[in-house]
Amino acid sequence: MTDIERKRDRAAVPTDWTYAPAPESRDLVRLRERYGHFVGGGWIEPADTYATISPSTEETLATVGQGTAEDVDRAVAAARAAFANGWSSLPGSERAKYLFRIARLLQERSREFAVLESLNGGKPIKESRDVDLPLAAAHFFYYAGWADKLEYAFPNRRPAPLGVAAQIIPWNFPLLMLAWKLAPALACGNTVVLKPAETTPLTALLFCDVLRQAELPPGVVNVVTGDGRTGAALVEHDGIDKVAFTGSTEVGKSIQRQLAGTGKKLTLELGGKAANIVFDDCALDQAVEGIVNGIYFNQGHVCCAGSRLLAQESIYEPLVEKLKKRLETLRVGDPLDKNTDVGAINSKLQLERITELVEAGKEEGAEIFQPPCRLPEKGYWFAPTVFTNVAQSYRIAQEEIFGPVLSVLTFRTPEEAVEKANNTPYGLSAGVWTEKGSRILWMAQRLRAGVVWANTFNRFDPASPFGGYKESGFGREGGLHGLEPYLRFEE
Ligand code: NAI
Ligand code: MG
Repeated sequence: MTDIERKRDRAAVPTDWTYAPAPESRDLVRLRERYGHFVGGGWIEPADTYATISPSTEETLATVGQGTAEDVDRAVAAARAAFANGWSSLPGSERAKYLFRIARLLQERSREFAVLESLNGGKPIKESRDVDLPLAAAHFFYYAGWADKLEYAFPNRRPAPLGVAAQIIPWNFPLLMLAWKLAPALACGNTVVLKPAETTPLTALLFCDVLRQAELPPGVVNVVTGDGRTGAALVEHDGIDKVAFTGSTEVGKSIQRQLAGTGKKLTLELGGKAANIVFDDCALDQAVEGIVNGIYFNQGHVCCAGSRLLAQESIYEPLVEKLKKRLETLRVGDPLDKNTDVGAINSKLQLERITELVEAGKEEGAEIFQPPCRLPEKGYWFAPTVFTNVAQSYRIAQEEIFGPVLSVLTFRTPEEAVEKANNTPYGLSAGVWTEKGSRILWMAQRLRAGVVWANTFNRFDPASPFGGYKESGFGREGGLHGLEPYLRFEE
């Protein structure tokens, strides 16, 4: 007999459900050993350098420039010259052609960019491949469409570009934040000096090659790498007309203080502590998926992460039980493995911040749950974490953790849910889970948050404006609203 038996001998039937490794190829990316700053369409040799690493292995990937005030000065001068020498007066339809080209090139090279994003930042390849890259390209496509329609977007207001925009971006979505910043600025006829975050400069540097391929005129986009000191030198520079910043509330506030009275325009996209509110009439399994996506997506390094779960008391127990079960199926590990759900923490510093806040949560009396998972020895890792028994006053309910850590609170009535959701200095996003359409609208009107998702979470679209209330910042990115911060109006 029997085939079946013979197969059994050879263990052709899986004995457990462990996935085999499915690594994406690293060879898709060819890195240089050393990068300078991208200024005036070419590379300038940095005076000072540092090593950028892979947070999942701690290996050095490349040496990059630590931008000085002098480097920043050269970049601003190049941007100013490009603004004056034709970019600002180019017909919108011509500017659009460059943006369309950039969008198409990002699509063509998306695998290469996705691998590099995961290597340098630690996020799972399936996220960089399926979220970051498609959205970055979509953003350029979207704003390419506006470039020749500004007169229609702002009728009778005579829109004109501002000049040189200084753009400072964070490490959680390096290429996507670059796209959010560059696309509207260029569509409106501005030139740019961009500073990527210190831990994730590589996709921005690779992007300079896309600019070369698109034949963007020299100096329209300049990239200076480095840490907060480079960012500060850029903000201080007299030659810039606008600052667009995404990052911590602390640095955002200091930039606002610094710019007061200078006439430079400012938009700030800062932290968040979003409530994900689950009512007892919702589709529970769907809500569990939304909660997981809300806080464990991108290791929780998301400004609009659903970091506070507000569960209606009547479903608290089954919800938490389902959630814990679901957590046990999350695969933590190699960012380049296509099966990975939760990758590496972006940096040692961020891991220390997360660890410190989680310790505070335990000390304050919250109950911690982490599924059993084996974390790699090298690199920076944190297991998906849920805190129950959380009081509103605890630090883990108030402060942005920016890691894979969820705090669960409860409520009884919609009024109480609103009050608790709004009990935060932030106001970036919120989620509502209920089958009742009228309740969704009732909640959305009362939640002090720039984005309110209903029966979904962490959904982005270039046509939809994104931004905060209160300490989450001001100004909107995306959509028609996202054009306005890059224009002045000659009314
Ligand atoms: P950060 O605000 O220091 O860094 C963000 C960007 O600002 C980076 O490019 C950095 O080089 C630059 N920067 C730092 N100091 C500056 C200064 N004085 N002037 C101009 N630019 C400056 O954020 P960090 O230290 O990386 O993270 C701290 C916390 O901030 C995180 O734990 C998280 O809670 C929050 N954060 C929020 C982000 C968001 O998307 N809203 C993004 C990154 C961090
Ligand atoms: Mg900082």
